[in-house]
Amino acid sequence: MLQRIEATCAYLKSQTELRPEIAIILGTGLGGLTEEISVEKEIPYSQIPGFVQSTVAGHSGKLIFGTIAGVPVMAMQGRFHFYEGYPMKDVTYPEVVMKGMGIKYLMVSNAAGGLNPEFKAGDIMLITDHINLFPEHPLRGKNEDSIGTRFPDMNNAYNRDLISLAEKVAASNNIPYKKGVYVGTQGPTFETVAEYKYFRLIGGDTCGMSTVPEIIVAHWAGIKCFGVSIVSNALGDALNGIETNHEEVQRNTNIAKDNLKVLFREMVKAMRNL
Ligand code: HPA
Repeated sequence: MLQRIEATCAYLKSQTELRPEIAIILGTGLGGLTEEISVEKEIPYSQIPGFVQSTVAGHSGKLIFGTIAGVPVMAMQGRFHFYEGYPMKDVTYPEVVMKGMGIKYLMVSNAAGGLNPEFKAGDIMLITDHINLFPEHPLRGKNEDSIGTRFPDMNNAYNRDLISLAEKVAASNNIPYKKGVYVGTQGPTFETVAEYKYFRLIGGDTCGMSTVPEIIVAHWAGIKCFGVSIVSNALGDALNGIETNHEEVQRNTNIAKDNLKVLFREMVKAMRNL
């Protein structure tokens, strides 16, 4: 495992002089952030030794090294989902590579179902915590003590300083937001109505099929994490038999996308001083 990470990092370091401390996983809603990146180097996952090789047809992804407002970042365009069939260790390999590359902060976004009845499509939710319902744990097996401890505490997995920073940035840029708990589930099925109710009952505000394994491994490795859900569909509507209005969802999601771009850009600028 360590040798594999070293090989991957040695290759990446040979490809760029940039040594970012911030990694960003460009999940749903964050596509627009690429416009803000002055790209220095783009590397398709398929060219990176040791990196997860895509076995899923049509799956392409790349690692982008560049700067946002002068701050160096490493951005993943395309992430690995458990439902695609990858082993959990492969789903979360990018996070141990981040550690090897000297990354100190990880920022992610996802699309999620809204469980909280007050949430509507297009809402942005700052993730304060998660509930892990994946059937396999990414840290199962021999622990790599040089990266992190066997029994990692998860109390501050969604770093409170970064959440405070996000709230400040959102306030000064008039960006509306919610806060809440993300339930991570393997998918690929969306939830039955009974499952939605169950997720709400156990304390979830949004649910989706990513993020949780990534945050677990990054936090274990000592990387400070920040995550955001974009509510792409609201459970309340489905329960009330209301069909989602596609145009409204698109309009809401687009507003959320613009806001998310500003939120992440301004956070990155401020994180220079953290
Ligand atoms: N459930 C799970 N994952 C999702 C959903 C959902 O309702 N919406 C977007 N990703």
